Parts: sequence; C-alpha cells; structure tokens
Amino acid sequence: MTKQPQQIAILDFGSQYTHLIARRFRQLGALAKIYPPNFNVAEIENLIGIILSGGPQNISEDDELKCDPQIFKLGIPILGICYGHQLVAHLLGGKVVGGEMKEYGLANLQAGRSALFEGLAGGEVVWMSHGDKVETAPNGFKVIGATENCPIAAIADESRKIYSIQFHPEVTHTVCGMKILENFAFKICQAASDWQVKDFKDQLIKKLKEQAGGKKVFLLVSGGVDSTVCFALLEKSLGPANVYGLHVDTGFMRKNEVEQVKGTLAQAGFANLHIKDASAIFLSKLKGIVDPEEKRKIIGQLFLDIQEQVMAELDMNPKDWLLAQGTIYPDTIETGGTRHAAVIKTHHNRVARAQELIKQGRVIEPIKDLYKDEVRELGEALGLSEKIIWRQPFPGPGLAIRALCHQGRSTITNSQITKINSKLSTVFEQIRITAGLPEKSQIQILPIRSVGVQGDLRSYAHPAILEAPKNNPRASRGQDTNKSQIPNHNFQSINWLAIERLSPQITNAVKEVNRVLLRADSQKSKIEKGKLIDATITKNRLDLLREIDAIVNEEVFKAKLERDIWQFPVVLIPFGVNGKESVVLRPISSLEAMTAKFYPLPDEVLESIISQIEQLGETSYIFYDVTNKPPGTIEWE
Ligand code: XMP
Repeated sequence: MTKQPQQIAILDFGSQYTHLIARRFRQLGALAKIYPPNFNVAEIENLIGIILSGGPQNISEDDELKCDPQIFKLGIPILGICYGHQLVAHLLGGKVVGGEMKEYGLANLQAGRSALFEGLAGGEVVWMSHGDKVETAPNGFKVIGATENCPIAAIADESRKIYSIQFHPEVTHTVCGMKILENFAFKICQAASDWQVKDFKDQLIKKLKEQAGGKKVFLLVSGGVDSTVCFALLEKSLGPANVYGLHVDTGFMRKNEVEQVKGTLAQAGFANLHIKDASAIFLSKLKGIVDPEEKRKIIGQLFLDIQEQVMAELDMNPKDWLLAQGTIYPDTIETGGTRHAAVIKTHHNRVARAQELIKQGRVIEPIKDLYKDEVRELGEALGLSEKIIWRQPFPGPGLAIRALCHQGRSTITNSQITKINSKLSTVFEQIRITAGLPEKSQIQILPIRSVGVQGDLRSYAHPAILEAPKNNPRASRGQDTNKSQIPNHNFQSINWLAIERLSPQITNAVKEVNRVLLRADSQKSKIEKGKLIDATITKNRLDLLREIDAIVNEEVFKAKLERDIWQFPVVLIPFGVNGKESVVLRPISSLEAMTAKFYPLPDEVLESIISQIEQLGETSYIFYDVTNKPPGTIEWE
C-alpha cells in the first residue's frame, strides 16, 4: 500500500479565515486539510501538525466549541490561532477573559525568542480580530509575544511543540505571517514541499470529466475571472459542444459591460456563449425591497429561474444537464458555508435553491476551494488573456448591492444618534491630536447602516463621518508636496498613516460603528442638513451609479492603478440634501478578498474624481471609506 502524503490537519472552529490557512500552506508547498473541531485526528495517516483555527464563539461566555483534549498528548506539533490560542490556554489550565476593548485591525507585536518566530525582526505588524483574551498562560508555557492591548498575544511550550497566537498569520496584513507559517510547517513539523497549482489544473480537468458523468453542463458566465476560468476548464475537460455558457444581463452591470464581456469572450475563442437580457424582471422583482439580504436572495434565485427558463425554451432535458457555477471559496465562507461559520452575506450562488441543487448533486463548482489569486494563477496556466485574468472583481448581484435602499422611518432614533455621537466625540478627542486633525474637526454617525465583519461575525452598523473644517486647498498645496497626505479640499493636512491608525481605534471603541468615512466633497452643505431619502432599486438610480462608476474607473485606468487597486466599489446612499443622494468611494487593496485595506488615492486622481462627480450636479455629499476589512466588508451590503 502506498503511504499517504504528509499532512497538516486544520481543526475548523468557524473562522472566516480557516480556509486561508490551508491556502497559505498550499502556497508554501505543504499539504493541509480542514476537519471539524472534534475530528479524531489520530486516525489521519502521516499527520505532522495540527492547527486550531479561529472562530466566532467566546470562551469567556461559555459558548465554546471544543476539540478533544487528547490531541495535546499525541506528541504532534500544534499551533492555535485566535480562538485556537484561547482554546489552548483554556484547555491546558490557563485563563481566558472577555476583553474590555474589542480589537480589530493592525497591532504591533513584540515577538520574543521561539522556533515559531525564527527570522522575525522583533517588532512586527500583525492583524487582530478578537474580543476575548488570554489573561494567564498555562503552566509550562512562556509568553513569546505581546501587543499593547494584548499582553499575552503568543505563548509556547517548546518542549511539547505547542504554540498559540492571538493574531492571524494567514492574512496578508500580518507582514511576518508567512514566515511564521513557514517556520511551523518546515522547522517545527518538518513538512515536505510538494504542492503546485499546475498539478491542480490537470487533476481538475480529469476530475470534472468524472464529475459530469457523461452529462452536459450549463454555466452562468458573468465574464469575470472566476466564471471564465470555469468555462475554460469545462471546455477543456468536456469539449466546447458540451458546455453552454449564458451571460445574464441583470441590468445591474456597469456601463457598456455586456458588450465588453461579449467581445472579450468571443476574442478568447469561447464559441458557445449566449446572452440573455433579463433586466426588466430583475428590476421588477427588486421593487420596494430594502433589506440587503433580501435583495441578495431575490437576485440569486432569479439567476436560477432564468437558467431554468432558458433550458425550457431550448428543450434541454434537465436529466441530461448539470449546472456549473464559478463559486470561489470566499463566496462559501461568507455565506456561512462551513459548519460553524457565521453568515456575513449571502452570495448570489449560495442562495437556498442553489444549496438544494448542490445537495441533490446537480451542481459542479470546479474552483470552489480556491481564492481569487489562485484562480488567476489557474487562468494563466490555462492560457487566458491578461485582460480576463486581471479584470477587477465585481459581485454577482452587481450595482444592486451598491445602491443602498431606505423606506419610511429611520431605524435609529434621534436620542440614540445623540448618545452614539457623544461616545464617538469622547473617543475621537483622545486621538484627534495624534492624528494631526485640526481642532474643529467633527465626527458623527449617519443614520444608515452597512454590513461588516467583526470577530468572525456579521455586523450591520453605522458609518462615522470624519470631517475637517474646510480650508483653502491651494494655500497649503505649495508648502507640502508629500504624497502621503490626504489631498482633498478639506483634508490636505492629514497623514494617511495617522488615518490608518485612527480608523480602527474608532471602530474598536464604539460598537455601533463599523466604518469610518472621510468627508471628501467641497462642503457646500453641513452634514446636519442631510436627511434620509426614500429610495429602492430603480433604473434612474442605477444609471446615476453607472455614470459615477464609469468616471471612477476611467480615472483609475488613466492613472494606471488598476493592479494596485484590487477593487473600487462606488456606493450610492439614500441620504443627502434636497432629495439628492450621496456617494461613497471605496478603493481597496487585497490579495484574496478575505481581508482588505482601504487604498489611499493620489491627490490628483481623487480631486479629478470628486470634481467630475460634483459636475454631474446629481449628488449631495461624497465620502471616502477608510475602513479596512475587518471591520468593514469590501461591499457595503
Ligand atoms: P465582501 O463585501 O464580503 O466581498 O468583503 C468579498 C468579495 O466578494 C465579492 N462579492 C461577491 N461576489 N457574488 C460574487 O460573485 C456575490 O454575491 C458577492 N458579494 C460580494 C466582493 O465584490 C468582493 O470582491
């Protein structure tokens, strides 16, 4: 019998990032697989290491998911991450308490001496997302890392090779994260390095043929990299005649997008692609709908309705066909797709009907375990053009989830707003000076809400608007040409690095707030004059959003920033003066969308975008979203 390859087992307690840990080990060339928390890992042949993942539950509130404490006696190296760190402490006799201050975002780690931290500089930027913290380390453990907020941020029992860390090494914003995982895999677990995307492509093509079992495949193709890579994989595996690609025009696409998708895919040689204009039905089904999850569910269901309708029109017998979807891993995890993960938002390909079809074995999802950067690598290996591979990600529900909706009364009372604003001002006053903001700067919340992710859970909370008094941009422009300064009409004296620190300080301290926005327009009206506006999805709103999105896109390409800026959602919010809505600019950098950083736009790009939006004369305020993920998601709904 052949020996199984070496393997690191990841016990999944439901973190948004569990799968990312496996992906990182793959990137390093080591095989890692995910298991439920109570899995009997002793059964795994050739097991060389165990990871205890993060998760949304709290040990301090006694709602913990546990693993079998016997794993600590197997003599196999263990690394606990975030919730896993707390679990190591808790199960081995240490103490975990509820943190007074939640911590989401960047922190500075003082790293001590340990095999886990070999090659680290000592002072390291790490990414935190937690409420509870370890107060006492278990006997036999030494503290090997601390941050200002979390004095026991890393512990080790080197003799038993048991380690645990509060921060997330698997997200790219933990700069030394890969080094830590590399140390664990190769120095501590002695893993072999033998995994590559290229091998995966060949395996996938072979597996898809088996999965299809002689049936044909119907694929919904948005034209983005995920569905196009699926199209190419399926064609290679089953032959073009057996793969029917349908691009549905939802009416929620960007300006001229349908034409562009048609052109690019025809050029790439996809012969069996068809277009269906379903914009009227998508618009009518969203009439009057306000709740973001409801919008998402309606849209996801409609995609499947249209697919069934087209199949009926073309007399395709459902018995001979399977449905294929270009689902990637973040779609699954954010929809609560693993056993213990929370629902952050329902992705269009994960609505109830899609889940039902999956259960019935009627869906093929060739790239469901991959992240966007791996899909791009696969696209390269398949010979797809750069234009397709580097298209900016765009969500399936399109602009419909970038036009926020409101109807009737506000969900928050004036006295609640006053209370939150006073909390915000107190926090802000303590950090304003370090951030270099002028004395008359103001902070206040908006009465609208957006989705975020904090400590592995969904949040639906308010944005805080940070506004500096207007001054003359030209006056200070000459004196300071430093590009790291916020350029805009009212913000040219602030340092981006200060904003990077200030933004998580605000969202960590005020739980009703999950985003921080800078006011970026030319301040013709006070924020206090703004009112909620009744607005649901209409063609007029989408057309306005399409226009603004096109302005933004053009500026990004003109400045050659399309690779640096991973994605640039523009959001229309039903709040403003004289019935005119406001706009949020949300440029971010990311690698695989599980975490993201707001992107600081160069002065001239931001100014040009703002002045073009203002020239349209159709909007009120313009805000710049300076929230990382977590605590804000990339999209607002
Ligand atoms: P969030 O907003 O959750 O988004 O940080 C992560 C990434 O996923 C995209 N996104 C979607 N993609 N169907 C998709 O195919 C969806 O329903 C969906 N919702 C969000 C989002 O644009 C970002 O790239």
